[in-house]
Amino acid sequence: MSRIEEILEKATKMRKGGGNGEKSKKMSLPGAKLPKVTRRARIENPNVVTVLDPDSSTAEEYRKLKSMVVRLTKSDEFQNMLMVTSSVGGEGKSLTALNLAITLAQEYDYTVLLVDADLRRPSLNEYLGIHADIGLTDCLVDGMGVGNALIKTGIGGLVYLPPGRRVSNPGDLLSSSRMSEIMKEIKHRYPDRYVIIDTPPVLPFAEVLSIGALVDGVIFVVREGVTSEENLKDAVGMLKNANILGAVYNAAESVFFDGHYKYKYSKYSSYYRDR
Ligand SMILES: Nc1ncnc2c1ncn2[C@@H]1O[C@H](COP(=O)(O)OP(=O)(O)OP(=O)(O)O)[C@@H](O)[C@H]1O
Ligand SMILES: [Mg+2]
Repeated sequence: MSRIEEILEKATKMRKGGGNGEKSKKMSLPGAKLPKVTRRARIENPNVVTVLDPDSSTAEEYRKLKSMVVRLTKSDEFQNMLMVTSSVGGEGKSLTALNLAITLAQEYDYTVLLVDADLRRPSLNEYLGIHADIGLTDCLVDGMGVGNALIKTGIGGLVYLPPGRRVSNPGDLLSSSRMSEIMKEIKHRYPDRYVIIDTPPVLPFAEVLSIGALVDGVIFVVREGVTSEENLKDAVGMLKNANILGAVYNAAESVFFDGHYKYKYSKYSSYYRDR
């Protein structure tokens, strides 16, 4: 029996209450998959509706988005690694990635990994209210194992890989072979779990295309009143080699009629398959 098998067997016995009479002794397994650090998210941004206003119509739209994503990705081969992007800045990529990841993590109460790969303008630390010094850049620059940077957020099974320290060459790092290794490591670590990756926008930053080639699917964010048709066409054209699953139409103002009441709500997202 190999050393790893021995340790696993010992751990199983201990979980069952048996084993060596060492009731509360914790074991650390080599290559253990669970993140070591728990830092409870302290969410204050009202746009993180899936936590702060789960009964709102906006949160409901994120649940619809989640259902469509699940339907589109759970085919014969589970497409678990998804990236969220858009044509230019400020269209709602990070909030979409975060609300989607939270909805998946809440619904199934299983591990969902959210990665902040927007090394140019990272925002997930702030949206989550988590102070994290180390993260993706430390894995990219110093060769640190991803497992050392993962954080359990306390929101369902949501695990978070922060962006890490600021770097001067984010484009080179995200396009590097080390990034591709890390993506493979993450996919291997979570083969049956969703990995949601927040990225920079496509038009200004070429590295998004490299990430697009590594993921299973792309969710494209379009923001009402912000995304121009030209930018949309150019960005989607640049992603032609990536698998675009569909688009989120973000921050729309819409009027609905339910038979009796006419009501209006904003800040909602909807999703459609665009091919
Ligand atoms: N649905 C929405 N309703 C209201 N405000 C929104 C919505 N989506 C995004 N915003 C606002 O737009 C701004 C940018 O959102 P977010 O950080 O998600 O965009 P982004 O595309 O990730 O931006 P960046 O390109 O800078 O990374 C934030 O101030 C956010 O509050
Ligand atoms: Mg962002």
